[in-house]
Amino acid sequence: MTQTEDTPEPEDALEAPSPPTPAEGAELELFVRHMHRRDLNKVWEFLKLVFRTVNKQTVEYQRPRLKKSFLEIFEEDGVEQLVFETRRGKRRELIGYAEYAYEIVGADSWINHRYFDDRDMRPLFVQELAVHPDYHGFGVGSFMLEQVEHAARLRGCTHVVLEVAENNEDALTFYRKRSFQKIDAAVFLARKLERGPELLGPRIIKPRRHKRPG
Ligand SMILES: CC(C)(COP(=O)(O)OP(=O)(O)OC[C@H]1O[C@@H](n2cnc3c(N)ncnc32)[C@H](O)[C@@H]1OP(=O)(O)O)[C@@H](O)C(=O)NCCC(=O)NCCS
Repeated sequence: MTQTEDTPEPEDALEAPSPPTPAEGAELELFVRHMHRRDLNKVWEFLKLVFRTVNKQTVEYQRPRLKKSFLEIFEEDGVEQLVFETRRGKRRELIGYAEYAYEIVGADSWINHRYFDDRDMRPLFVQELAVHPDYHGFGVGSFMLEQVEHAARLRGCTHVVLEVAENNEDALTFYRKRSFQKIDAAVFLARKLERGPELLGPRIIKPRRHKRPG
């Protein structure tokens, strides 16, 4: 779900228009379709909006950092990109986006396929699940996950695999409640450094070999 690039992207201008929040208890009609090329700009703006808050809490970016990377994903074989919409008058409004792949895609992917092969797992990798912030808690994310799992079953997948930052508490709660379990974790560790003079003082060290454990 995370992608890193060298050049930082400015937190810039245009955003996806904010759809009106549904009234309490109102029904919400959801439509799902494959993303088209003409949706690319709109979905990119949408992702910036959705992940703005999330990215303030996490060490890794939770979406492609650069538009270029996002545009490249569209050209990748084996990546499915779905948009979820609701009706607004005669128009349809974008309120959700899901992206997943049946294979490990991208030349620089650091997912280790052996982990899954050795365990006879046929995973579907969810790269993004994003709901418009005004629509959180209305069941849109649950429907999107149901759609993704449906697609996975149709393709003979045995597992849905995704990465979520531990600091992204809402999403983590969402997945845990839906029976997702931790299979591995990259833990970010940090230690606050004390300030001192640039050069260390003289030191007497006792030459010794560090024994390797085992
Ligand atoms: C995680 C996410 C996809 C969930 O989507 P959603 O549409 O809010 O999901 P649902 O409405 O189906 O379920 C949300 C749960 O939170 C509860 N909830 C209630 N009010 C809520 C609120 N204001 N905001 C969020 N969740 C709320 C819901 O009742 C529901 O509880 P349940 O687990 O008992 O069913 C969505 O929050 C999101 O897009 N987050 C930002 C992007 C992100 O972090 N994506 C995941 C990592 S890729």
